[in-house]
Amino acid sequence: LSNGLALTPPMGFNYWNFDGCKTNLINETMMMDTAYAMSTNGMSKVGYEYVNLDDCWMAKTRDENGNLRADPIRFPHGIKYLSDYIHSLGLKFGIYGDIGSETCQGYPGSENYLEQDAKQFAEWGVDFVKMDGCNMQVSDMKKAYTDLGQYLQNTGRPMVYSCSWPTYAYVQNITMPFDYIEGICNLWREFQDITDNFTEWTQILDEMEDSVPKRSQFAAPGSFNDPDMLEIGNGLENAVEYKSMFSLWSIIAAPLIAGNDIISMSKEALEILINEEVIQVNQDPLGIQGNRVYKNQKLEVYQRTLINNSYAIALFNRGDTNSDISITSEMLNLTNHQNYNIRDLWSHTDNGTFSDTFTASVQPHGTVLIKLSPKINNNNNNNNNNNNNNN
Ligand code: GLA
Repeated sequence: LSNGLALTPPMGFNYWNFDGCKTNLINETMMMDTAYAMSTNGMSKVGYEYVNLDDCWMAKTRDENGNLRADPIRFPHGIKYLSDYIHSLGLKFGIYGDIGSETCQGYPGSENYLEQDAKQFAEWGVDFVKMDGCNMQVSDMKKAYTDLGQYLQNTGRPMVYSCSWPTYAYVQNITMPFDYIEGICNLWREFQDITDNFTEWTQILDEMEDSVPKRSQFAAPGSFNDPDMLEIGNGLENAVEYKSMFSLWSIIAAPLIAGNDIISMSKEALEILINEEVIQVNQDPLGIQGNRVYKNQKLEVYQRTLINNSYAIALFNRGDTNSDISITSEMLNLTNHQNYNIRDLWSHTDNGTFSDTFTASVQPHGTVLIKLSPKINNNNNNNNNNNNNNN
């Protein structure tokens, strides 16, 4: 969607992956403390900005004018107050709604209230709208998501528009017009909901890679595939697996929405989330989604094209034993015989030169993530200069 937003994948926080619908945990204080933590623990400095509600923030009914409202006990000062606080920290505020008659957890849906809710979101100072798709026929979603997008735009307030339509089409095996949704939504959720489980999130990755039509072709600045929010720090996987998730979400240009308890997370989880060299891959300005370029049983290689003729390469070992993974210039389609500097984005070290092959030993469930940047003064540059001179 060309609304000037999400030119790179949005970064932020959402509580769903660790709080779910636990209403004893979802409240104003948790949201404010999370925003404050994000603004002081190094996250906002490296690009995390959206602090987002998910399901279960609402009161069970609309008010007498049909307006959505927050649960009055858990959000005693209302949504505008929360939004103002988040903005006062220099951060942005995201909200959750559902395009159907009810949210997935049975709170009021936006069906028949699309224009009213869009205006309400704008008045509250919302910067990001996650619009879920429970309780609506998939066949009605094209019109509903299009209409809401129009109403959001009509408010004049810039709001990132995240649409869950493909998730529901996927579950019901209905063909999805991706070239269309790319024009009306900034992000679109894909496949089933993620869990804090290596086998399950790698299945989402497989679905992304094996997708027909190939999803990566629809990604661009302003429009990104969303394989769901991060599980880093939620405790059921080890740091090696969380680093793999962060590496691969960066290669596939996924939104980096932390789904863990920001207020009391471990130092280990924080360090993964704020690895700036990996974030730079995710936030590459070209907005090109990477792909799997090699697979041999449990060993895989992913490649993303970056600005300045550079590449991010993930050597991903899905198996249960240490394994060597090799990349070759042929595998990466780098047939110009150029030399590249190798930078390891987790160890933060320079690892020599890549001309034709490179091999790394990769831990079980681990990823070696490298960046290849062309050495300066290469032959190609010289040729270009000569051509220019001749002209
Ligand atoms: C759906 C979405 C999740 C979450 C829940 C909330 O399952 O896919 O991300 O928002 O609804 O009920």
